[in-house]
Amino acid sequence: MKLTTLATLFAFSMTNLTATAQIATPQHLSDAHTMLRVNATERYLLLPVEEKEDIARVDIVCNNKVVKGFNVRLAVDKVDYLVPLDLSQFDKNLLLDVTFHGDRHKTGSVKEFSCWKEMKLSSTFDTSNRERFRPAYHHTPAWGWMNDPNGMFYKDGVWHLYFQFNPYGSQWENMTWGHSTSTDLVHWQMQDEAIAPDALGSIFSGSAVVDKQNTAGFGKDAIIAMYTSAGQHQTQSIAYSTDNGKTFTKYAGNPVLTYPAPDFRDPKVFWHEATKKWIVVLAVGQEVQFYSSKNLKEWSFESAFGKEYGNHDGVWECPDLLKMPQSDKWVLLLNINPGGPFGGSATQYFTGKFDGHKFVCDSKPSMTKWMDYGKDHYATVTFSNAPEGRLVALAWMSNWQYANQVPTKQFRSANSIARDLKLFEDAGESYLASVPSPELLAARGKQLKKPSSTCEIVIDLKGSASVELKNAKGEKVVMNYDEAARTFKMDRRQSGDCSFSEQFAAETVAPTHGSIRQLRIFIDKSSVEAFDSEGKMVMTNLVFPSDPYNQLKVKGGKAKIYEIK
Ligand code: FRU
Repeated sequence: MKLTTLATLFAFSMTNLTATAQIATPQHLSDAHTMLRVNATERYLLLPVEEKEDIARVDIVCNNKVVKGFNVRLAVDKVDYLVPLDLSQFDKNLLLDVTFHGDRHKTGSVKEFSCWKEMKLSSTFDTSNRERFRPAYHHTPAWGWMNDPNGMFYKDGVWHLYFQFNPYGSQWENMTWGHSTSTDLVHWQMQDEAIAPDALGSIFSGSAVVDKQNTAGFGKDAIIAMYTSAGQHQTQSIAYSTDNGKTFTKYAGNPVLTYPAPDFRDPKVFWHEATKKWIVVLAVGQEVQFYSSKNLKEWSFESAFGKEYGNHDGVWECPDLLKMPQSDKWVLLLNINPGGPFGGSATQYFTGKFDGHKFVCDSKPSMTKWMDYGKDHYATVTFSNAPEGRLVALAWMSNWQYANQVPTKQFRSANSIARDLKLFEDAGESYLASVPSPELLAARGKQLKKPSSTCEIVIDLKGSASVELKNAKGEKVVMNYDEAARTFKMDRRQSGDCSFSEQFAAETVAPTHGSIRQLRIFIDKSSVEAFDSEGKMVMTNLVFPSDPYNQLKVKGGKAKIYEIK
């Protein structure tokens, strides 16, 4: 889609808006407050954003009622990019009530801000890619900011991925559930926004289930989303969809679950067959809490877990509880920020048993197990209702230390490739293996002579090895497998642009849990994900090279390079 520029922008005074006027002259009522009438003759009002500016609050008033409100960094000097306000949801005649909170308005220059001149109506919004760091086979939003994957479920051949989305800028704000779908877990199609903020708050992370037995009364096979309403307090709400996850209706009885703690969020719901109940696991400060329900609306507290277990150097977020196939073991995924092994965000997990009431960990409390030993693997959760009992996980491929600063503008953040989860044992402990989902194998294309910006490198090893990915500018990612020390390292300190955050340059180290016989390294424009072929060692790191790495040097192994289709 291409942006159509308006040939004419008529300026009319507020009181003099005629049928032909489109955007009226802004009325600057003080240095912090402007009103602007818009005649919605086109689908979109494109709002100019300047990322370094302070946030302005925009309330949309239709017929004297606020019908929507959001925060946006309206441009003051220059326009970084435009974001689309979809007007099709409102009456034709609307008023933008804009309040500036930042310091710049105090100079008295609100009327000089470039946003007034650059704002435009348009029938289209240009989503064609403008970013050289945008991955090709990883999910990204077409525009705007993304963090955690949310509400993931599979139904009728389609993988649904919702995500923490800011439609009005490429930094964290206005949490909304964006939506994308895929039939192969590799190629994604962005859909319309699914759940937008309301009087109970913005829409934080959560999950979705297929209600096969109509337990909630919204219909057989309705999709029920449970999410955190982040208002004055964090409470849990539900919404249902009877069109396979395209649109959601919020339940009138929200919130359905409250608790007097500041951090009470990220509900992950699943059906517990043995007790014939829904279970939800929530992150609550330094523990998780389990609740059960017959109908997804009324919840009873079951138990809490975790205060003495694992890593507590940050806030616990985004839990998931998984029954491992062909095993009586369960895995509790638990994301923590900060506190990760190399700073910032990371995913830890606990192995044990769950009987529908209580989780009992099978490791000693002091044990911490990390799911991925890179710096860019967070908010990992699994799909609900995946086929053949598969446990398919996606992570947000970034780190709260620098996610808002990475050098992209049109969008920020991607998901990891999909990984299928399994258990393995090492020295009497159970661990989680993450293997690239088989769909990635199916996406393998022809063999290449040199690495490209979107490829998979498969290296057969006999023992210790080193792998160097480099471009003509000398930017490089260096990986080292030490068989004796049972470690794998990845060094991105000279990988390209590291300037946007002091916390970005890093070398990450993973235990290998035995010998690695084959490495699989996935490269996609701005990410390197390394796996041993059994998924016992996993490392996900972002990189921002000024040119793609097109040289590969391997010592101690034999490499094949494949394009990814
Ligand atoms: C994790 C998180 C969640 C929260 C969401 C808000 O990255 O902080 O705990 O629900 O992001 O966007």
